[in-house]
Amino acid sequence: MTNEPKRYLITSALPYANGPKHIGHLAGAYLPADVYVRYLRAQKRDVVYVCGSDEHGAAITIQAMKENTTPRAIVDKYHAMLKSNMADLGISFDIYHRTSEPIHHETAQEFFTALNNNGDLEQKETEQYYDEEAKTFLADRYIIGTCPVCSNDSAYGDQCEKCGTSLSPEQLINPRSTLSGNAPVKRATTHWYLPLNKHEDFLRKWILEDHKEDWKANVVGQCKGWIEGGLLPRAVTRDLEWGVKVPAPGGEGKVLYVWFDAPIGYISATKQWALDNDKDWKPYWQDKDTKLVHFIGKDNIVFHCIIFPVMLKLHGNILPENVPSNEFMNLEGDKMSTSRGWSIEMDDYINDFVKKENGGDQMVDALRYYLTNIAPETKDSEFTWKGFQEAVNSDIVGKFGNFVNRTFVLMHKLCNGKVPPFHTDIIDDIDSEMLDAIVKTKPVVENLIEGYKFRDALFEVIMLSDAANKYMQKKEPWIVAKQVGEDGKPTAEAQKIIDNCLHICLQTTANLAILINPFLPFAAKKLCNLMKVVDKMLDWENAGKTKLLSVGYSLRPPELLFRKIDDTEVAEQVEKLKIKSERLKMENSNAKENEKQAAENVEIAVKPEIQFDDFAKIDLKVGTILSAEKVEKADKLLKLEIDLGFEKRTIVSGIALHFDPVTIIGKQVTVVTNLAPRKMRGIESNGMILMAEDANGKLRFVNPDEAVANGSGVS
Ligand code: 2FM
Ligand code: ZN
Repeated sequence: MTNEPKRYLITSALPYANGPKHIGHLAGAYLPADVYVRYLRAQKRDVVYVCGSDEHGAAITIQAMKENTTPRAIVDKYHAMLKSNMADLGISFDIYHRTSEPIHHETAQEFFTALNNNGDLEQKETEQYYDEEAKTFLADRYIIGTCPVCSNDSAYGDQCEKCGTSLSPEQLINPRSTLSGNAPVKRATTHWYLPLNKHEDFLRKWILEDHKEDWKANVVGQCKGWIEGGLLPRAVTRDLEWGVKVPAPGGEGKVLYVWFDAPIGYISATKQWALDNDKDWKPYWQDKDTKLVHFIGKDNIVFHCIIFPVMLKLHGNILPENVPSNEFMNLEGDKMSTSRGWSIEMDDYINDFVKKENGGDQMVDALRYYLTNIAPETKDSEFTWKGFQEAVNSDIVGKFGNFVNRTFVLMHKLCNGKVPPFHTDIIDDIDSEMLDAIVKTKPVVENLIEGYKFRDALFEVIMLSDAANKYMQKKEPWIVAKQVGEDGKPTAEAQKIIDNCLHICLQTTANLAILINPFLPFAAKKLCNLMKVVDKMLDWENAGKTKLLSVGYSLRPPELLFRKIDDTEVAEQVEKLKIKSERLKMENSNAKENEKQAAENVEIAVKPEIQFDDFAKIDLKVGTILSAEKVEKADKLLKLEIDLGFEKRTIVSGIALHFDPVTIIGKQVTVVTNLAPRKMRGIESNGMILMAEDANGKLRFVNPDEAVANGSGVS
């Protein structure tokens, strides 16, 4: 598309609603899209930004098994969490939809039917693994076995997570079903296939020629690998219960493959948005004047650049203009992973920073700043808490925030809190240079954003604030103000110099608000409030103008935009990360051990029978945790203060790897109160808390199902 498109449809990869998502996901597909969309909106372009939860596939059903609940309960729980996390972090979707909605099922079925009726799909009978005990075919993720490449004995049917090799179930050595643990058998089943091989020429031209220059090199490179490796027909249905039912004869007991229905989720979300807003969804997917852009993480490239485009082409839809895909973000020297506990969940960041007394929206912007600043746009990058602290403290507090604050303080002190006049007769080179910088920054930032180089674009904005700080430093209005007349006030000449400096600084501040708005929207809003201007000032067309604030207009008193991150916060987060990953490591190894024991048919130990009198000797009472803190130099111990109604007790409990101390304060627990006292790490422990331990070694408190008075007996 060479001319200005009529409208934009922007998508972010639909996250699986199977658990919390981490800040690596945020940095990959959501934050860059949000920056782009906020920029387009500020340009007054017609843009719709859609996303939603991906609620089908093995990711969901396996999590349901893990949590011993239904897929429906899983998606309801995590959809709510993801939706609110994204909103809390300022991701401004026009709609955050879900693929379990009826409108999505209908849309996906219509899509499948259209392709099927048109002869674009093929039906094939193949032999696939079947679990005779569970009476079901096994989708890739339901089969584990030994990886033929690295000998990992827990490789999945589609991928070995240890060495990263893409696999098919047939390649696994000693395959077994995750449902029953049995070795599966082969059975014939019929599925629908998308013959990608027939579309190779189209893909070759469209990606490797037409988009060779404007798509990122990593995206084109990956596609080249797929195309040149030879494309094969890809199954688009599965033998499963949970998902979009296959709407064709012979489709009973089958659903659409999650990667067939999920991207159609972008279309159904647009339809729902149109219904909610009394708009027509069709032009967004059918009119060639629409610019469609998919923001994704690099593990989604093949689906968005090869499979979905073939589906879109066959269905008569427009194709994406670009698929900006980021590399991965590592964390403190290791790959980010929720299952290994080596991650910062969005939910945790929100609780630890945003919802704290000294947090709020400024902490959302702080995260948005650092994630954009280290965005893995061309290669993997690394998040460190120290780096977060340095970036926030030096750039947005030290440069951006500092400049705005100094401007407001001085303007109130030296210009009566009003925008001072601008005296053209005394402009010097330093003033002109600063005014020039304002004008020139706009097109630079614009080009970078349009080219999906958000990291560089943000850098330019921060550099403008840096230049402005330096400008002020050169002009030193606080020194000039010492040139006073007989009345003790600055002389007329001095006042003119002060006026010009602060006039330019205030116009720079207005420009900074506009330029920073796509990246740090909350700071931009706060700036508008300080300048007493409406949000309309943030329209992109205002950027680069040096007469945005009118002379004589009075502005609000200074207010800090950002706070510093202190060393304790960094230390706490690093410690928290270590504890979490230790806990997960322990849980995962217990789970493995239990699996092994189950496989070997080891019976769970049952203790010998006792008489009631033996049991009655134990004094069990309900108490409430009043305080909880880690015991120094003891990774596993927590020192708890328990209110037992009749007295308060100190109990040392070995649960530190299982619970974050702050989260258990106020919980009721069952206490063995007549256990002989015991000293642990120099602290006397007067009792024991009862815990339930599941097969994976996960600990939970044993407590009454409703609150009771502390000191209530348990028998
Ligand atoms: O990788 C994932 O998390 C997928 N749920 C992404 C789907 S993107 C789109 F196709 F829906
Ligand atoms: Zn392997």
